[in-house]
Amino acid sequence: DKGNHRHFMAKEIHEQPEVVGHTLARYIDFTGETTKLPEDLPFDWTKLSRVVICACGTAYLAGLVAKYWFERYARLPVDIDIASEFRYREMPLDKGGLAIMISQSGETADTLAALRYCKGEGQTVASVVNVPESTIARESHVVFPTVAGPEIGVASTKAFTCQLTVLACLALAAGRARGVLSPDDEKTLVHALAEVPRLMAAALRVEPQIEALAKTLAKAPDALYLGRGTSYPLALEGALKLKEISYIHAEGYAAGELKHGPIALIDETMPVIVIAPHDQIFDKTVSNMQEVAARGGRIILITDAKGAEAATVDAAETIVMPSMPATVTPLVYALPIQLLAYHTAVFMGTDVDQPRNLAKSVTVE
Ligand code: M6R
Repeated sequence: DKGNHRHFMAKEIHEQPEVVGHTLARYIDFTGETTKLPEDLPFDWTKLSRVVICACGTAYLAGLVAKYWFERYARLPVDIDIASEFRYREMPLDKGGLAIMISQSGETADTLAALRYCKGEGQTVASVVNVPESTIARESHVVFPTVAGPEIGVASTKAFTCQLTVLACLALAAGRARGVLSPDDEKTLVHALAEVPRLMAAALRVEPQIEALAKTLAKAPDALYLGRGTSYPLALEGALKLKEISYIHAEGYAAGELKHGPIALIDETMPVIVIAPHDQIFDKTVSNMQEVAARGGRIILITDAKGAEAATVDAAETIVMPSMPATVTPLVYALPIQLLAYHTAVFMGTDVDQPRNLAKSVTVE
């Protein structure tokens, strides 16, 4: 049931404040203002020297955001890999390590094979899945469910932000257990997470602006997405969403990589979507935007009010998000990039919920 939406994807984008709220309720103790995980975890955060994360597609990109969080908030190094690469590389793993599989469907063949490899190598396997009765869930030692509800659109939207929600809670719990975060630090970060549903609802208000913008984007043969820090995986996710449903060729890059090749692509016809909340590395991204502007690139800047003011560059369009702590920006900034892909695809007249050549769950290798 699409409710009063034209596509499942639109419905699922709009459900995010609610389902992220449900997911938070499962992993946060709002009265104690702490994260809450099951007490009988089959691993001990304090004994880990690193974590392996495997997944495919959008789930992989959620894992890439989580790498920044685990390393920053828990000082826990993360090796993240695309499941289809990981499984054949036969990476040496020290016994007793933790491997986290991320999958909406819980049936992705390569992720399942990566899980089995990790088990064979004596890892404790945790999975972040949306379908609790799935194979990946059943074969894991511990399951951290996302509470996104069924996701029907082939393009993953609400599952992605619910994966991020669970992973953020895991990173904070790890940070607390490992003594990296003080109780006060944890409280501050939990508060920031608790605000996400409200921030998402505010973020959705840019939809009319994005819809108008999508009309122009729909005419572009290519698009480039740039970001730094946790906005880098989001740039990759923005490009993936656009390719997948609008069939426009798009690439995501770490903004700092621009001058190492992709800058050669920039001319007056190239839309460059820059994801840049006003954070510690904002100024670095501004320099990259100046490089783009100097070559006539058409900048679409997604930032907050402070960033919009501080960006000393002529953007063709600025999409302003509410201001928020840096930790939670990937959760909220996911929404404008989903909306941009969605409305572009609607203008192009593609089959948004069932894009060509794709399946919701990739159970073949
Ligand atoms: O069910 P999974 O999360 O394991 O699926 C992984 C990918 O196939 C999936 O995220 C895919 O990239 C999406 N269609 C992206 O929108």
